[in-house]
Amino acid sequence: MNQQVKIKDVINPFKRKLLVSSDKSISIRCILMSAIAVGKSKIYNLLESEDVKNALNCIEKLGVKYIKKKNYFEIYGVGLNGFKYKTNTILDAGNSGTLARCLLGLCSGTTKTIKLVGDKSLSKRDFFRVINPLKLFGVNIDSNDGTLPICFKGTNMLRPISYIEDKGSAQIKTCIILSAINSPGITKIKAKKSRNHTELLLNYLDYPIKIKKINNYDLIYVQGKKDIGGFEYKVPGDISSASFFIVLTLLSKNSELLIKNVNVNPSRIGIIKILNKMNAKIKILNKKLYKGEHVGDLKINSCKKFNSINCPEKLNSSAIDEFLLIFLIAAKSKGVSTFKNLSELNKKESPRLDLAVQFLKMIGIKTVKMNNNLKIFGEPNLNLKKKYHVKNFLKDHRIFMMSVIAALTFGGNWKIDDKDSIKTSFPNFLNLIKKLGARIK
Ligand code: S3P
Repeated sequence: MNQQVKIKDVINPFKRKLLVSSDKSISIRCILMSAIAVGKSKIYNLLESEDVKNALNCIEKLGVKYIKKKNYFEIYGVGLNGFKYKTNTILDAGNSGTLARCLLGLCSGTTKTIKLVGDKSLSKRDFFRVINPLKLFGVNIDSNDGTLPICFKGTNMLRPISYIEDKGSAQIKTCIILSAINSPGITKIKAKKSRNHTELLLNYLDYPIKIKKINNYDLIYVQGKKDIGGFEYKVPGDISSASFFIVLTLLSKNSELLIKNVNVNPSRIGIIKILNKMNAKIKILNKKLYKGEHVGDLKINSCKKFNSINCPEKLNSSAIDEFLLIFLIAAKSKGVSTFKNLSELNKKESPRLDLAVQFLKMIGIKTVKMNNNLKIFGEPNLNLKKKYHVKNFLKDHRIFMMSVIAALTFGGNWKIDDKDSIKTSFPNFLNLIKKLGARIK
């Protein structure tokens, strides 16, 4: 099948309402938590993407049954210690770092050896970040120099730990929390702020977890070995998916978009804060609390002029998956934008920081990367005329979708490879874009 899309026209003005796909982080957490819950859970609006299907496949291999009903998934939790660990079980996390890292914590109590594998992109990513704390819990891990495949064997005698997580990574934090749930006693984590969906879900489920805020860190206390009951949950829209449409609207002429029912957890809305500092005026309407999470509608209008930004480093974690899009706005801004300490961007599905620099240079934007800091010299009159080909990006879904947004707003004649990449997080992306009027072949 031809995996390349071709775009040669910018999108015409649009005025629409839409829904984006469900939140991936919350979908994966709902599946893992319902697997260790006692009894049945019902998850409505679960994201149906490859990363989430892999999560369902993995819990099924651990003996957890699930049924897809018309508009929800029923998951039959087996309780803590209820997994059926077979000899030579292989868990395949596909493309998902979140799933792979969380599974290691979830299965830290296994007394059988489990092999964890993933696709080409995931097999290049760093796992020492979770191997180190898991070893302190007492898990035996054999890895390929910190990368997949990993063989691990836990123990039913895990010991609680004290750990400082200072990368601002929710994946590391969640892996430790899940392993803490399997361990007797209290695990203490000092975690640099990052998305807190795991903590909010556990809190909603009445699990004994306590959080104290200290500056840019959370002190998290997890009491292990307590039961979780089956639950119902309706997953809201994903702000990371909404962000492609936010930036499309901002960069398009005379357009307006209302994106309904999006998760606007304060630990996820860095993109809104950053773009509003650059003059975007994105509004969050009808804000509500849902089971501890904030949900709202996003109203976006075209924006004619953007200011450059000296991006506060403390916003990095809350915008971590959106920087590729923020860089597009920086490319159209008046002045030089600076971003600091973005090393974590090179630890994603592809080395996103390096690929972003390549991309910006390809479209003629002067970009300087020094250590892990970036300077982008904006061109408010950017209007592309040449031919561009985006390829060799390890099928990173976010690079593909960002490139589509650039092509639909900056002009030029584009070929973008690997459209299948969207299946991991946002299978409906191209259909929605076409519904707004985009011409894509
Ligand atoms: C995620 C956390 C982030 C993010 C990823 C999803 C999660 O990774 O980039 O897409 O669901 O916990 P890190 O926690 O490693 O920054």
